[in-house]
Amino acid sequence: MKAIEIRNKYLNYFKKQGHQIIPSAPLIPEDDPSVLFTTAGMQPLVPYLLGQKHPEGTRLADYQKCVRTNDIDEVGDNRHLTYFEMLGNWSLGDYFKEESIKMSFEFLTKELEIPIEKLSVTCFEGDKDCPKDTISAEIWKRVGIPENRIYFYGKEDNWWIAGEEGPCGPDTEMFYDTGKEPCCSTCQPSCDCGKYVEIWNNVFMEYFKDKKEYTKLDKKNVDTGLGLERMTMLLQGKETPFDTEIFKPVMEKLETLQKLDSIESRRIVAEHLRSSMMIIADGGRPGNLDRGYILRRLIRRMIRHLNKLQIDLEQLADLIEINIQNLKEMYPELEKNKENIKNVLLEEKDKFVKTLTHGEREFEKEIKKIQETKESKIPGEVVFRLYDTYGFPPEVTKELAQENGYEVELKEFKELFKKHQEKSREGSMQKFKGGLAEQTQETICYHTATHLLNAALKQVIGKDAHQKGSNITVDRMRFDFNCDHKLTPEEKQQIENLVNQWIQEGLEVTKQEMKKEEAIATGAECMFIEKYPDIVTVYSIGNISKELCGGPHVKNTKELGTFKIKKEESSSSGIRRIKAILLKEEN
Ligand code: SER
Repeated sequence: MKAIEIRNKYLNYFKKQGHQIIPSAPLIPEDDPSVLFTTAGMQPLVPYLLGQKHPEGTRLADYQKCVRTNDIDEVGDNRHLTYFEMLGNWSLGDYFKEESIKMSFEFLTKELEIPIEKLSVTCFEGDKDCPKDTISAEIWKRVGIPENRIYFYGKEDNWWIAGEEGPCGPDTEMFYDTGKEPCCSTCQPSCDCGKYVEIWNNVFMEYFKDKKEYTKLDKKNVDTGLGLERMTMLLQGKETPFDTEIFKPVMEKLETLQKLDSIESRRIVAEHLRSSMMIIADGGRPGNLDRGYILRRLIRRMIRHLNKLQIDLEQLADLIEINIQNLKEMYPELEKNKENIKNVLLEEKDKFVKTLTHGEREFEKEIKKIQETKESKIPGEVVFRLYDTYGFPPEVTKELAQENGYEVELKEFKELFKKHQEKSREGSMQKFKGGLAEQTQETICYHTATHLLNAALKQVIGKDAHQKGSNITVDRMRFDFNCDHKLTPEEKQQIENLVNQWIQEGLEVTKQEMKKEEAIATGAECMFIEKYPDIVTVYSIGNISKELCGGPHVKNTKELGTFKIKKEESSSSGIRRIKAILLKEEN
């Protein structure tokens, strides 16, 4: 069965079970303070898992585009992917364990026709925060999973939370037995040997964890996630996702182009090419910070491995085209954004080629210094600096060093690199947590201010100026929009004046639910039309702004204080960024 067929079967099945199919949110979370990428199907649904009413009801299902980059350096083995698709179904205070498990079981055994003998499951073993999940285990037994294939594990394996705070709960996971020989006499699903592969995770989200403790949520929710690439690989009896139709055309092309053989490099190129194309299609741009930096790393790692395979970089355009043709049925946005994807990738390639040349020059300087000290090894610190400052890959440093008769202190480099990785991991966790933080009065005010700014830009810059991203913290807002020039001081002043005028007028903010087409027909502003479900929420501010948006917002613009632009700068090509604050009068 092809990936797209599995996706369709999944959505149809859950539709039949009374679920509304909602569209995938973009990979780049919009209006979500400081989250790097969408990493799970539940992420865009957090407000609803916390109790907000979802306009589409209490049973939802979707396919969600996800990017997880914690293990970027492990891509190239046989299973890690940075981009993947997660199929998910949710109950927002609707069904719970019984129905959820029964549906999963039916889908796996009837729709996908997986023999029961291939399935094992795991449940939460219980601890001081939450009792043992014997209920799920009993349901599994009743549907037909024998007791000796039901395992109990602790929080490390059978508890799900995004980051350290947020909605969470015990989960039950389903595993597929690949039929490989057990690695030892106690081989079981928690074992990493590859015999058992996790295929689906049903989280019974009835808790909320803050920094200190677990409390019960008002409603019991279900959040499930099924990795599409992995399921496709298993159903096709393939060893890796790279052997499925998702990656095959690119993998084969690489094989014909390569002058040096490396399966690892081919996988890295194929994976990073697909990830970066998906990120760019959703509005991502390479840069030096946060998600821009991750995208840059993905592209650069891909180029390095093309070099390693000794493939002419001029072939990149062809590889992009092959991927678009292969994936456009699953992701029409790739074809829609074809020109942009090509431009961004080819431009970044050219930049990186320059970096490599530049890095080589820096390397020469370092070598001269080392020759003077008569050392025989290049310190890890130098390898790291070349990597960190010039993006010069350590393996290239090593090769060049060897050509010059030197060894490199790789151990020291690895330690430095590990520290750097831990820091960035902590950073992304922080960011994920940030995104899930509860809305405060400050962030709500800033959120409403983005709508006013969006409306003001249309009056001052022109009606084609649209929001391209935003980021809100309790202290400030950041707002990206398309514009072909640096704003003049007069333009900035006019924008500020307009926003403040609307604040002073005390305009009412109102909310309405309506059909998506209807909302668009009334001229409501919206960033990613495909992101929205059929029924949408439209927020209007007086008669100056109307936007599709999940909220929340203030009731009246009077609550905002005084709007002040602190900075206007370039964000990426054709995109400007405004940083602004709201000043509140102390009383
Ligand atoms: N949130 C859970 C996961 O990411 C289930 O969807 O695995």
